[in-house]
Amino acid sequence: MDIAVTTRPVRPADRTLFYRLWPRLSPETIYRRFHAPVHRLPDETVRRLVTVDHDLREAVVAVVGGEVVGVARYDRPSEDPSTAEIAVLVEDAWQGAGVGRQLLASLTDLAARRGVRTFTATVQPDNRPVLGLVRRLLPGSTVTPDADVLTVTSPLPPEPVSASPRADSLLATATI
Ligand SMILES: CC(C)(COP(=O)(O)OP(=O)(O)OC[C@H]1O[C@@H](n2cnc3c(N)ncnc32)[C@H](O)[C@@H]1OP(=O)(O)O)[C@@H](O)C(=O)NCCC(=O)NCCS
Repeated sequence: MDIAVTTRPVRPADRTLFYRLWPRLSPETIYRRFHAPVHRLPDETVRRLVTVDHDLREAVVAVVGGEVVGVARYDRPSEDPSTAEIAVLVEDAWQGAGVGRQLLASLTDLAARRGVRTFTATVQPDNRPVLGLVRRLLPGSTVTPDADVLTVTSPLPPEPVSASPRADSLLATATI
């Protein structure tokens, strides 16, 4: 069944949706995103995740049927705003349906418009989905071993990677 998935920048009112998303994530998905087992989502963490300045810190959410099913975010240091650290997560039932690709395309478009030229991401060495996703979306990426994780570095072209508006949508098929 094809279902419409919309991506848009996060807003503080998404807090409730983040609390609802958390129990739908498997321990493996949480571990791959946070690089540690996280059993509880502290209120302060949720507040920080949904409160961004849409400049140095941005997050894009994927929404389907009124629920957040995925999030991609970047943080860039004020002392070097041409670089940004990114992270992405899609809830298990929606993985493999193109949501991660859509989120990263939206995020990289926003970042490129704001002057980001290099993305970095920390991923586990066996995380084939995200390594394939980054390589396909950002073909100039390099991968460097760093302790027990990989650091992926991706140059961003000055122009947006694709011409996505601030809110975008796709049709995806999920096993729900
Ligand atoms: C990584 C992640 C965000 C990808 O999101 P997604 O919605 O599943 O990805 P997509 O459906 O857009 O697929 C992207 C690519 O990965 C591939 N892929 C998806 N699931 C895969 C799997 N289980 N095994 C291998 N490849 C897979 C797709 O075929 C696609 O490849 P393509 O570009 O060649 O077509 C998602 O799997 C996730 O949330 N993982 C846990 C958190 C995480 O690893 N975050 C990254 C570190 S911050």
